[in-house]
Amino acid sequence: MKKILVTGGSGYIGSHTLVDLIEHGFDVVSVDNNSRSTPTMLDGVEKITGKKIKNYKVDLCNYDETHAIFEENTDIVGVIHFAAYKAVGESVEKPILYFQNNLGSLINIMRCIEEFKTPYFVFSSSCTVYGNPDSIPVTEQTPRKNAESPYGLTKQMGEQMIEAFAAATRFTKSVMLRYFNPAGAHPTAHIGELPIDRPQNLTPILTQTAIGKMAGFTVFGNDYDTRDGSCIRDFIHVCDLANAHTKALEFLIANKNNSSCEVFNLGSGNGISVLETIKAFEKSTGITLNYTIGPRRPGDVIAIYANNDKAKEQLQWIPKYSLEEIMTSAWKWEQVIEKLPVHLELRSHKLN
Ligand code: WQD
Repeated sequence: MKKILVTGGSGYIGSHTLVDLIEHGFDVVSVDNNSRSTPTMLDGVEKITGKKIKNYKVDLCNYDETHAIFEENTDIVGVIHFAAYKAVGESVEKPILYFQNNLGSLINIMRCIEEFKTPYFVFSSSCTVYGNPDSIPVTEQTPRKNAESPYGLTKQMGEQMIEAFAAATRFTKSVMLRYFNPAGAHPTAHIGELPIDRPQNLTPILTQTAIGKMAGFTVFGNDYDTRDGSCIRDFIHVCDLANAHTKALEFLIANKNNSSCEVFNLGSGNGISVLETIKAFEKSTGITLNYTIGPRRPGDVIAIYANNDKAKEQLQWIPKYSLEEIMTSAWKWEQVIEKLPVHLELRSHKLN
C-alpha cells in the first residue's frame, strides 16, 4: 500500500480525508500537534475504518522534529498538507502568528519533501485566494486578487511558493486544491467539525444555535448587491472534499497531470446566499433559527462560487452530497458532540 503523510490529520478536513484514503487502499500516518484539534477525532476515524491511526504530535514549525518523521517513514510517497490556522478574523488581529505558523510549517514540509524526493504533494488551499472576484463562477484561471486577510495571504503565498518549488524540482509533482466552504460531517457522525472556541464560520453557528449552545446569531449584512442582499457562497460537503484529495493523489500517481503543479477548484458549483442557507437548514431539520440582521463583516467577499469543471473532467471527481445532506449531517453531528467527553475538554481548551 502507498503510504501518505497527512498533516493536520486530527482536524476537520484532515480526519475525513484519512477515512477516504483508507477506504481507497492507502496506508496513512498523521502529524498533528493538536493546537487546534483533539486527538479523539482519530478515535472517530478508527471507529469508521477499523484502523488505528499513528499520529506524530509534532509542531511542523520545528524542522528537526518534522525531519525525523520523514527519516522514520522513508516509504512515504505522498504528503497532504492541511495543518494551518484558518480563522480569518484572528489572522487580522495576529498576522505574525499566521505567517509564522502557516508559512513556517509549509517551508519545513517542502524542505523534507525535497530532501526525501517525495513524489506527490497535495496542498490545502482556499477560494479566498480569489479575493472579491470580478466575475463568478470562478475558474482556476480567475486571477488571484488582493487577499482579504492575512489568512488569505498565507494561502496565496503558499501557492506561489509551491509553484516555484514545482518548477525547480524534478522529483515532486504537486496539486493545490482550492476549497470553497467546507461543511457537514461524516454520515456516521463519528467525526465532524469541532470548533475549539466560539465558531466563526456559518454552519457550526447554525447547528450551535439550533441545539441552544448559542442563543442566536447575526447575519452579517443584507444590503449587498445580490438576489436577497446577503452574501453568496458555495458549500461543499466535507466528504466530497475528502474524496477529491484521494482523487488528486490517484491523478498524480497515474501521471495524468499536464504540469508539475496543478490547481483545482473544489466547490459544488452552486452559489447560495446566507439567507437561503439558513432556510435550507431550517427546512432540513424542522428547526427555526433565531437570528438578526446586522452590519457587514469586514473582509467578507460579496459573492463567490466555483466552476468545478476542471476537477470533474481531470480528477473524475463528482460531488455527491446535496445541501440538505450537508445540513442534516452537520445537525446530526452537533447532537453527538454534546455527549462527547472531548467537548468538555475542548471547552476548557484555550486557543494557542
Ligand atoms: C460565510 C458567510 C458571512 C457567520 C472563510 C474563509 C475560507 C474558509 C471558510 C478555511 C459569510 C456569513 C457567517 C455568522 C454570517 N476557511 N456569516 N453570520 O468567510 O466564506 O470563508 O471560512 O478554509 O477560506 O475565507 O466562511 O462561514 O465565516 O462565512 O452572516 O455568524 O456567512 O458573512 O457571508 P467564509 P464563513
